[in-house]
Amino acid sequence: MRNEVIFHESKKYMPGGVNSPVRSYKNTGMTPPIIKSGKGAIIVDEEGKAYVDFVLAWGPMLLGHSDKDVVKAIKETSESAIAFGAPTELELMMAKFLCKNLENIEMVRMVNSGTEATMSAIKLARGYTKKSKIVKFAGCYHGHFDGFLIEAGSGVLTNGIPGSLGVPEESIKNTLIANYNDKESIKEIFNTYGDDIAGVIIEPVAGNMGVIKAEDEFMNLLRELCDEYKALLIFDEVMSGFRVSFEGAQKLFKVKPDLITYAKIMGGGLPCGAYGGKREIMEWLSPVGGVYQAGTMSGNPIVMAAGLATLNKIKNNKEEYYNKIEELGKLLEDGMKEIAKEKSIPLTINRCGGMMTIFFTELENVKKYEDVKTCDEEIFKKYFKHMISRGINIPPSQYEALFLSVAHTEEDINKFLEAFKEFNI
Ligand SMILES: Cc1ncc(COP(=O)(O)O)c(C=O)c1O
Repeated sequence: MRNEVIFHESKKYMPGGVNSPVRSYKNTGMTPPIIKSGKGAIIVDEEGKAYVDFVLAWGPMLLGHSDKDVVKAIKETSESAIAFGAPTELELMMAKFLCKNLENIEMVRMVNSGTEATMSAIKLARGYTKKSKIVKFAGCYHGHFDGFLIEAGSGVLTNGIPGSLGVPEESIKNTLIANYNDKESIKEIFNTYGDDIAGVIIEPVAGNMGVIKAEDEFMNLLRELCDEYKALLIFDEVMSGFRVSFEGAQKLFKVKPDLITYAKIMGGGLPCGAYGGKREIMEWLSPVGGVYQAGTMSGNPIVMAAGLATLNKIKNNKEEYYNKIEELGKLLEDGMKEIAKEKSIPLTINRCGGMMTIFFTELENVKKYEDVKTCDEEIFKKYFKHMISRGINIPPSQYEALFLSVAHTEEDINKFLEAFKEFNI
């Protein structure tokens, strides 16, 4: 009851009772548990019910909840540094970490969220190329910036809305929509608008229409077209960065992006973001160049400390961590497929390391947005309710990814599989 009571009260003071729409469980016919605490792979709600967490704050908690080294960094830093709005050595350490450990990042700018990172990268692309049109792909989500709220994934797709009210025509007239993994669609857009295109933004491993990896040939074509028309190629690695490998999704492709955006894991669970790329482009940012982008909290010391504690820990254990996540992911994927076969439940699983989506569809391959739309949402809803009631916390939408952390164990995966064995469509 306590969950219900708090949620009911929350609705009086916050629209829908939440601060971000997908958390409301609106499309599931349920109300969300109110989460009180988390440790490792387990979160506990206000009624004391424990869940094995496969949402992980929508990706960031690769080390699991309240990792001791991250907590230590937050505590120690906050003793003497909360916010200055002035340069600190901690932000230099984070910038160096990103530039030294990630390919194609020569300089970075820190921001406070994934949305800020992507919208700032777009502004930079426009300033640098002196062109205005941006290409995005249907089903990809790059945050709630006006220019991205068309055919977006994540909560926009979950709630079945074409975009958002409050976005004026002028804000989206320079956004062109192409189809993911569809070479003809992107060629056609460049043939028509090529000279006006400032940049192409893509989730190289999409997570916001469910997990779909871009195909190599498609990515090669994006690079060729961007080069031919002098547009920038922007990888949105807000979700995939440090997730699908230590070096992110860019490691999975030969193609080199011009700009990359990060958030989620890089902040260790605190509000953060960053975008970076070639020095020549980044130096168009103010105060060196004329593209203005700023932030009172950008590079905040506590966020930088939590982020550095997280990233250093991942780096120092990267083989062990990513191998473990891959093994657990495979165990879950194989187990789900076997159970589904036995029970004649139609599903296809896409997985890239520790991010994975179970699509309830008859299709054998889910490679693009149209494929995703064949999913049976009614089965998903039933499955979601079932899993939550069995203490398995998964994203409340067919069009999201579930995540694994280094804190998960084989036992946690077995719990997931045991719960799924009891599910009937
Ligand atoms: C790929 C991608 N880009 C951008 C964003 C927006 O990030 P934020 O929610 O931190 O603004 C998200 C959020 O899930 C995302 O997955």
